[in-house]
Amino acid sequence: MCGIMGYIGRGDAVPVIIDGLSKLEYRGYDSAGIAMYQDGNLEIVKKKGRLADLVTALGLTDKTGLAIGHTRWATHGVPSDNNAHPHADCTGRIAVVHNGIIENYATLRKDLILEGHDFLSETDTEVLAHLIEKYYTDSLEEAVRRALSCVHGSFAMAVISKDEPERIIAAKKDSPLIIGLGQGENYVASDIPAILGRTSRVYIMEDNEFVVLTSDSAEITDINGQPIEKEVFEVTWDPVSAEKGGFDHFMLKEIYEQPEAIRKTLAGRIQGGRVDFSALEFDEVFEKAEKIFIVACGTAYHAGLVGRLALEKLARVPVETDIASEFRYRDVLWKPRDLVIVISQSGETADTLAALREAKRHGIKVLAITNVVGSAVAREADRVIYTHAGPEIAVASTKAYITQLVVMYLLALYVADLRHTYEDKKLTGLASELLYMDTMVEQVLKEHNKVKKLAEKYKGVQSTFFLGRGLDYAVAMEGALKLKEISYVHAEAYAAGELKHGPLALIDKGVPVLTLISQDKLVEKSMSNIKEVKARGAVVVAICKENLQEECQECDEQILLPRVNPILAPLVSVVPLQLFAYYMAVLRGADVDKPRNLAKSVTVE
Ligand code: F6R
Repeated sequence: MCGIMGYIGRGDAVPVIIDGLSKLEYRGYDSAGIAMYQDGNLEIVKKKGRLADLVTALGLTDKTGLAIGHTRWATHGVPSDNNAHPHADCTGRIAVVHNGIIENYATLRKDLILEGHDFLSETDTEVLAHLIEKYYTDSLEEAVRRALSCVHGSFAMAVISKDEPERIIAAKKDSPLIIGLGQGENYVASDIPAILGRTSRVYIMEDNEFVVLTSDSAEITDINGQPIEKEVFEVTWDPVSAEKGGFDHFMLKEIYEQPEAIRKTLAGRIQGGRVDFSALEFDEVFEKAEKIFIVACGTAYHAGLVGRLALEKLARVPVETDIASEFRYRDVLWKPRDLVIVISQSGETADTLAALREAKRHGIKVLAITNVVGSAVAREADRVIYTHAGPEIAVASTKAYITQLVVMYLLALYVADLRHTYEDKKLTGLASELLYMDTMVEQVLKEHNKVKKLAEKYKGVQSTFFLGRGLDYAVAMEGALKLKEISYVHAEAYAAGELKHGPLALIDKGVPVLTLISQDKLVEKSMSNIKEVKARGAVVVAICKENLQEECQECDEQILLPRVNPILAPLVSVVPLQLFAYYMAVLRGADVDKPRNLAKSVTVE
């Protein structure tokens, strides 16, 4: 995710900004930039690539007491010099850095262009610069307040003006922002590591808070200008744990970032109870597709399994989900109106890319779902839908998976709407339930201690099984993969009904069987499978919906999930499995973020 660093004070801003941005590198970025006050003007330098490229482009700079800098993780527009932040208004009077997503940027941009503003980038952020310009007469603070009242979405932003070099204006909603308090100098940053070593005194900004920062003061108000008294937070973290936001591992941090990742991926995509992907200009393909092939690897493949069931149920299109390394060598019976959907967090996975190329070679339309703007699959597919999970650093995928699920649901709702295959009221109902899934995931995260205790109990086991039916089976596969890849415990996922056709022979006394029970209609069937394994001495851990706990009483342990629509249940049921894998790995002393033999991006066949 992007990083912000701003400085105002009696020192030299540029080295402070570069140092701060380097401490935020762990957040992932593809370009970097800085705006600094020099001789009565704002000078902006920005570069695609690493911070080192920015430093080279900057060369030697004169001392200045005011600058804002940014590392960008592309969301709107490819990584490029132009799309890098800071963004300026038409006159070069102001400069803005921003993290988050301006959901209504397309409308705002259209209006601003009609009013005569010139845009230089493809970003959503640039509308902020022009909006502020529009409202700026003599008070930058007022102009920023007015501009922010026009935008929908999330922001952590900082703005400077050449006409008011004694202040930085910053504000936050749904993206992190902190203020560092120094002596005769102050800082604004998207995360604590950026200011560590300079000050330990910070304000953690809350949503809808607004700050006017000078060298000697930080005045915080709400969005309407009412003063807010904030407590200073004393940071005691060491630099390494600070990068992980106080979490012990990136994986745990990313598990906890899932509610925010869901919000960002949904942002602006559901309007008036309906999903809107019309801007893709792919409606005809969605409407006429005879068959959809979803192709991916590993965790992304598991997201595709959920996608298949959602698309078939809602949009009534035949769907096949396949592993990319198999699909690329299959002799697929292509029909001209088929659609291929490739899912890839990195957008660079060799097998997924090869499957995409194979489809294109046969003249088949390809839609990519990826987390990385400008990645190979994004460039080569006919259309792309981005997940907005932010950079995923741990090798084991968690927040990227959950956002892939979100996109699959959005797509299923959209295609169903286009094809009129699902009752209108139910469609809008499901869309509004989707909008609440971030809070449902937050609720499940509160169960972490219970999951940790389970891991403590079972940390010594050799082998585990994961069972489920329907959507629960798809999630069981993901749970088993997580456990084996980071804790090195043998884990197998089975469709619950398939067990007695062979694998039941492996069930022995004390073997943990994690069973997902979120599909109300299948609960009785699952219970009979549970009886089969219990009769062989297995210990059964049920991950079950609150309303089904009565039926699951025979299980040895229960982790409860909130009462959600069965179709959407994978979004909550995967969370305890991610936590279980995480705690098992920690307790067994494994290297959680960098499991043996594995790489984050698999660019070889
Ligand atoms: C497992 C995991 C992998 C990836 C797979 C595909 O936690 O992360 O299974 O899902 O290597 O990677 P992407 O999504 O980048 O194509």
